[in-house]
Amino acid sequence: MDFCDTKKQYEFLKKDIDFVVEKVLSSGRYIMGEEVSSFEQEVAKYNEVKYAIAVGSGTDALTLSAMALGIKSGDEVITTPYTMIATIQGAVQCGAKPVFVDIDPKTFNIDSNKIEKKITSRTRAIFPVHFFGQPADMNIIGSIAQKHNLAIVEDVAQAMGAKFNNRKVGGFGDTGCLSFFPTKNLGGYGDGGMVLTNNEEINDKIKILRAHGSKEKYKHIMLGVNSRLDSIQAAILRIKLKHLDNYNSVRRKNASRYYEAFRENENIILPIEADNSYHVYHQYTIRVKDRNGLMEFLKKNNIPTMLYYPLPLHLQPVFSEYGYKEGDFPVAELVCSEVLSLPISPELEENEQDLIINKVKEFYN
Ligand SMILES: Cc1ncc(COP(=O)(O)O)c(C=O)c1O
Repeated sequence: MDFCDTKKQYEFLKKDIDFVVEKVLSSGRYIMGEEVSSFEQEVAKYNEVKYAIAVGSGTDALTLSAMALGIKSGDEVITTPYTMIATIQGAVQCGAKPVFVDIDPKTFNIDSNKIEKKITSRTRAIFPVHFFGQPADMNIIGSIAQKHNLAIVEDVAQAMGAKFNNRKVGGFGDTGCLSFFPTKNLGGYGDGGMVLTNNEEINDKIKILRAHGSKEKYKHIMLGVNSRLDSIQAAILRIKLKHLDNYNSVRRKNASRYYEAFRENENIILPIEADNSYHVYHQYTIRVKDRNGLMEFLKKNNIPTMLYYPLPLHLQPVFSEYGYKEGDFPVAELVCSEVLSLPISPELEENEQDLIINKVKEFYN
């Protein structure tokens, strides 16, 4: 059993994918082009936003958002300590100080009720993450941002298709950032990402920034980067986008099977679906006693698990200059010591899931 069987997904779609890959290969156009612009339009429609700009990765989408918003030295940006470093890396590279807010242990997301206390005259933006596929509370975050005139960059890398108040996440902020890393809910066969926005000015700026700061070839009006999507990736992702809603509903079905199996088990704290939310379970992450023991036991039984993430961002060596220390964000620290992600991908077979369930139960018997 694989933690996320990307090969199996390819085998199901092989005929369609091979056809479009062959088409791109014989077209002679390998970067950007028609496949990419059609994919941008389809994603904009899917995500209910005006503009979608394809870039090289989810990390680039976040970095380019920070650049387009003009985040600079002296600014502060607010985010969760329980995320992948890519959420905030670009903003920090632009010169901002990362300011963390502890998480809600039930949703794993930034505790939106604790954000306002961290706002200073230097705060420029909030970077909420829809972590593991669970939407952050965009009602509270939206009103705090409006009240204090802050930008919002949504990290949607793990949550394409998730909804808050019946609206797709990624369209609430100034930008929303998608990742098409192979194991994501919509995964390509290489790196890829997308910036979503309803703001025409930001759309124009990101299009310029991704192309070496130029609108017209060889005329550079700002310092940008090289961040483009390959035509092959776009062609593959266009095929897969048609299946995304189905993949997400299978993830939800797998999540409810785990829920039914473990709900009575006192050793396991299960993930929940927050109010007004449509969770897309990029990960099914449980909190358990003796996490390392369980992980070892499952490994011995050939069951793969993942540990997302062992160390929260405020304790990462790269951020040591900001003076954060152990104990600053107790919920995130506790969660990091207890979490374990179980296989949940749409390719997971029922008998495989039964085996996982039985072995987890056996460990705690
Ligand atoms: C929460 C989060 N943000 C950002 C990223 C970065 O995406 P990418 O790997 O496409 O650069 C990831 C991907 O791992 C992620 O999980």
